[in-house]
Amino acid sequence: MKILVVNGPNINMLGIREPEIYGGNTYADLCDMIKDYAAEKKIEVELYQSNCEGDIVTEIQKAYNSFDGIVINPAAYTHTSVAILDAVKAVGLPTVEVHISDVSLREDFRQVSYVRAACIKTIAGYGFKGYLEAIDCIVEKNSL
Ligand code: DQA
Repeated sequence: MKILVVNGPNINMLGIREPEIYGGNTYADLCDMIKDYAAEKKIEVELYQSNCEGDIVTEIQKAYNSFDGIVINPAAYTHTSVAILDAVKAVGLPTVEVHISDVSLREDFRQVSYVRAACIKTIAGYGFKGYLEAIDCIVEKNSL
């Protein structure tokens, strides 16, 4: 089992950006947590973060035929990117959308998610733990 974990713009600024919303832990802490969890579950994970929409699209395309699922937090691109939605649809892999914060309780412009239409589940508001739940969800989907 091989899962690609994709994070979008400003997720590399965790620990610095709006700690009252995203907490005080860093992107490196998030990566360590995901890697430890995957090791425990005997799953392979690859972590990717980019601030560029096109690079995220390319990374999703590269997952075709080489990964069993995708965990994605497109960050701000959640609310704007048809290109990321199309990439997820194109590769046809089970994909879970994750948000650290509870976007449903935030600004109106965060209420739209383009990628959601191509995802088997959305997990929002559970902090870093949401990524682990998303991994479980993909494992479960692949074992059906
Ligand atoms: C986010 C929520 C988005 O609205 C925001 O643009 C982010 C992070 C989250 O993880 O809560 O950058 O995806």
